[in-house]
Amino acid sequence: MGKIILLDDLSINQIAAGEVIERPANVVKELVENSVDAGADKITIEVKKGGKTFIKITDNGKGIDKEDMPLSLERHATSKIKSVDDLEHTYTMGFRGEALASIASISNFTMISRTENEELGVKIVAEGGDIISAEEVQANSGTTIIVENIFFNTPVRYKFLKNDGTEFRYIKEWLEKFAMAHLDVSVKLINDSKTVFTSNGRGNIFDMVYLLYGKDVKENIIKVDYEQENIKVTGVIGTSVIARDTRKDQIVFLNKRNIKNSTLTASADQAFKGGGTGIGKHGFFILNLDMPANYYDINVHPTKMEVRFKDESKVFKVFYNAIKNAMLTKEFLGNSEVEEKKEAYVEKEFNFMTNHFIKPASLVPTNKMKNVSEDKSIIEREEKRKVEYKFIGILFRTYIVIEVGDEVYLIDQHAAHERLLYEQIRENYKNNLQNNTQMTLLSEVINLTHKEYEFVKENMDLFKKSGFDLEDFGENCIKINGIPDIEYREKTSARALFMDTLDEMLTNERSQGKDIEERFIATVACKAAVKANMDLTKQEVDKLIDNLLVLKNPYTCPHGRPTTIKFDKDKFSLEDI
Ligand SMILES: Nc1ncnc2c1ncn2[C@@H]1O[C@H](COP(=O)(O)OP(=O)(O)OP(=O)(O)O)[C@@H](O)[C@H]1O
Ligand SMILES: [Mg+2]
Repeated sequence: MGKIILLDDLSINQIAAGEVIERPANVVKELVENSVDAGADKITIEVKKGGKTFIKITDNGKGIDKEDMPLSLERHATSKIKSVDDLEHTYTMGFRGEALASIASISNFTMISRTENEELGVKIVAEGGDIISAEEVQANSGTTIIVENIFFNTPVRYKFLKNDGTEFRYIKEWLEKFAMAHLDVSVKLINDSKTVFTSNGRGNIFDMVYLLYGKDVKENIIKVDYEQENIKVTGVIGTSVIARDTRKDQIVFLNKRNIKNSTLTASADQAFKGGGTGIGKHGFFILNLDMPANYYDINVHPTKMEVRFKDESKVFKVFYNAIKNAMLTKEFLGNSEVEEKKEAYVEKEFNFMTNHFIKPASLVPTNKMKNVSEDKSIIEREEKRKVEYKFIGILFRTYIVIEVGDEVYLIDQHAAHERLLYEQIRENYKNNLQNNTQMTLLSEVINLTHKEYEFVKENMDLFKKSGFDLEDFGENCIKINGIPDIEYREKTSARALFMDTLDEMLTNERSQGKDIEERFIATVACKAAVKANMDLTKQEVDKLIDNLLVLKNPYTCPHGRPTTIKFDKDKFSLEDI
């Protein structure tokens, strides 16, 4: 008996429908997802000419019943749900009953399938969606689908395809992500008769990372395995060594489906903060969230890349905790001191972070994160950071040494000062303060190269908001009237600060948008900060430490280098000497 049904009109109208086949990679995605939905654990994908002329998917799944074969090509024909209400407890990749119909309608389509309890399989051939033959054939159990000459009957859409290499790259990139989430499925990708990618299906994420990213990355990842409130987070995160300039390596799956979601991105950003990831860098992660289907709505967009969580703040928190807990393991930190107090630590840090750092713009408007009053947590924090310490001295004219209780801290004076200045500039920048400029006694006109001049003109706003007072003087010249009003170590020349910042920004030009702001502020802070080998007076040290200790994240400089190293008293044992 067949299992596929045609959805009723009510359900059809409620399902996010629409064309999802724009290119060969979309065909591969839909067919491979059908294969896993059919329980396959071995899938072979063979393509020619970037999938434009030929795509063949073979699986060892449960196959399609004879009488269902023609029905499966109809629109809204699915075996996965009976009505839209079933989505609350459906975990299959597909549910719209549209993919095969869409694919068949724009190609020469062949499908061969046999279920385990049939002797013979069925082969149907369709052209532009019309079935032209159906016959019984010898076949392995499972399903094979061949899609040839995609868009043969819609030449305009064919014209939008990129060259074969690019189309193939889309296929490969998609399949690699699929393989990361489906570690127990072995996939093989063949391009123009060459095997390009295989995964063994043995379920090991470390093997997969090695395969896709190589040795260096594999050696810098840590396993995540966390569960809270019925949500399970598994996968890996990377140490700061492999933090990236882009978000390309921030990959997230929801019940093994690759999704894009700003709540999760924001949550990860918070969790990586303070972990040494560094300004403008993005933490590496490949994580899957397993949760009940009624916690979210995937029926938002036909590609199913978007999702709406019913309780954004819950998901935000669990994801944050999963990452933070992994970051606080011995493996990640290289020592075990925080490990015991982890849960309490993460909880506290989370409350603090979410009260101060969430940028509303990066979250969906419905977020309900602010449940603790700001004032209360500010007070808590002030109390926490009022630390009594004893100043011991300065080591190598570089490290400030202080004693706090049973611990000794070495504080890198440059990194610490840099951190401090960074916070000051950023505060001014964020609040767009008008009075954050220190006017120079004499304005200076600087002659720049054309490239430098263009950069300054284009980014005038960055300079101004950070506290520079600049004027365009024409002919590649800029006049400096003032520099950011922050606590310089000594009389910093306006020209040097301006030129150093400019140089640095131009040598690392890649970042854009928000990143460039962060990087700019970090650069100014770095250039203005006291360097190693500069002598500090006791008063200056006091001020530096006092100011540092009330910062939101005193532990790393804006570039992610630690400002502080801690030693426990019991590590100082004469027996070891
Ligand atoms: N490889 C396969 N093995 C077994 N059954 C399959 C396979 N491919 C498709 N089917 C059957 O054909 C039906 C239609 O597939 P189709 O991809 O069009 O819809 P769907 O997967 O139900 O929903 P969606 O459009 O969201 O992908 C499926 O519900 C399933 O019953
Ligand atoms: Mg499908």
